[in-house]
Amino acid sequence: TKTNKGFPKDFFWGASTSAYQVEGAYDEDGKGLSVQDIPKPYHDKICDFKVTSDHYHHYKEDIALMAEMGFNEYRFSISWPRIFPDGNGPINKKGIEFYNNLIDELIKYNIEPVLTIYHFDLPLELEKQGGWSNRELIIDAYVQYAKTLFEYFGDRVKFWQTINEQNMLVLYGSLLGTGATQKELYQQNHHMMLAQSLVMKLCHEMLPEAKIGPAPNIACAYPATSKPEDIVAAQNFSAIRNWLYLDVPIRGHYNKIAWSYLEEFDLVPTFEPGDEEILRGANPDFIAFNYYNSATIEHAPYDAPVGDKGDQQMAFTIPGWFKSFDNPYLTKTEFGWEMDPVGLRTTIREMYDRYELPMIITENGLGAYDTLEEGDIVNDPYRIDYLREHIEQCRLAIEDGCELFGFSPWSAIDLVSTHQGCSKRYGFIYVNRDEKDDKDLRRVRKASFYWYKKVIASNGSDL
Ligand code: BG6
Repeated sequence: TKTNKGFPKDFFWGASTSAYQVEGAYDEDGKGLSVQDIPKPYHDKICDFKVTSDHYHHYKEDIALMAEMGFNEYRFSISWPRIFPDGNGPINKKGIEFYNNLIDELIKYNIEPVLTIYHFDLPLELEKQGGWSNRELIIDAYVQYAKTLFEYFGDRVKFWQTINEQNMLVLYGSLLGTGATQKELYQQNHHMMLAQSLVMKLCHEMLPEAKIGPAPNIACAYPATSKPEDIVAAQNFSAIRNWLYLDVPIRGHYNKIAWSYLEEFDLVPTFEPGDEEILRGANPDFIAFNYYNSATIEHAPYDAPVGDKGDQQMAFTIPGWFKSFDNPYLTKTEFGWEMDPVGLRTTIREMYDRYELPMIITENGLGAYDTLEEGDIVNDPYRIDYLREHIEQCRLAIEDGCELFGFSPWSAIDLVSTHQGCSKRYGFIYVNRDEKDDKDLRRVRKASFYWYKKVIASNGSDL
């Protein structure tokens, strides 16, 4: 039987958010616009990112609630255009001031800030000049931006992540803000890899005590059957969707299987002299990763229809390489996302086997419609069940020998989903607003708030 060693003594228990999804104040105090601030057709029916949870004005109250839950960690992102309204150029001092205050507030409560440098909100001014496609512009802009963050916040921030879900930005570029072709997206990906490498190196030079890592979304892949072709297909999926994004920073070069896919579909990015060397210089200290679901994969013939990627994050086909589909053993959330706690253990084990780096889960959670009942009560047993099952699998992975140092689910507080509005809630803290009415933005502790508090107080033993 298992020994039940439990969670390490100094394990990070907290939760996560991202700037554009939680802060609001989209044009206040000198903030520039980001690609997320551009209205989308679906904003007729659901809310945009102008106000969101108004964390910008409520951060003290929100952090006090996190402290009440017992957080010793909080993963948040900096809004790039709040620091550099044009993406590069002059610094917005008010932006620096906001994050200085926020970080000080966290430290006041002994909450470790785990900072994401860039989470989907590229400054619009940079996007207008080609964004991640414009190599000359963007690598330098990202490095300067990160350097500024190291200078201003490096005295207090010890854990850094470079780019949130770079793999989703490439695989779902159009959904997350860029409207580029596949070829362009892989060129952008290459620029992100270079920028990330330079920033990791810079971090180690400027802040020798700090740790920095990538933050992809990772999903283990199950072969649909024991048919040998399905096994190859599952490996193909993992290479293209997962390992490409970890091999480059950690091993210092592109994953070979993913590379042969890029060659076959004429997606190979242009390299300039010196790029290989830059990629070899990243040396991340840890892996931050987001996990929502696993993937179930079968062989796809070359004449397979590509199909619609739909909302299910993993659902897509690359003819000749793989096809993903619903796993008959798993149930789904109200929003159609498969739930697979055991897959989290598998994912952690697989990654530790490959890279042997410490890991922190920076997102995992259940998006659901919650109901605010009379007397400010929000009962969300479905969220408690979801998190309990995932935390239990983290414990097992730790017992398996994997080095996991934190669990930081999505999300600390209700915020606005990437493209499905604010009614798709993830938080422990309810924010009283709906899609088209900001209401009073009152904060309400959900049942999961009290449950998570107990989990943290018992260091994960009372689930
Ligand atoms: C991750 C992102 O992909 O999933 C978050 O890093 C996002 O920004 C989260 O909010 C949940 O996805 P969604 O689409 O439900 O908001």
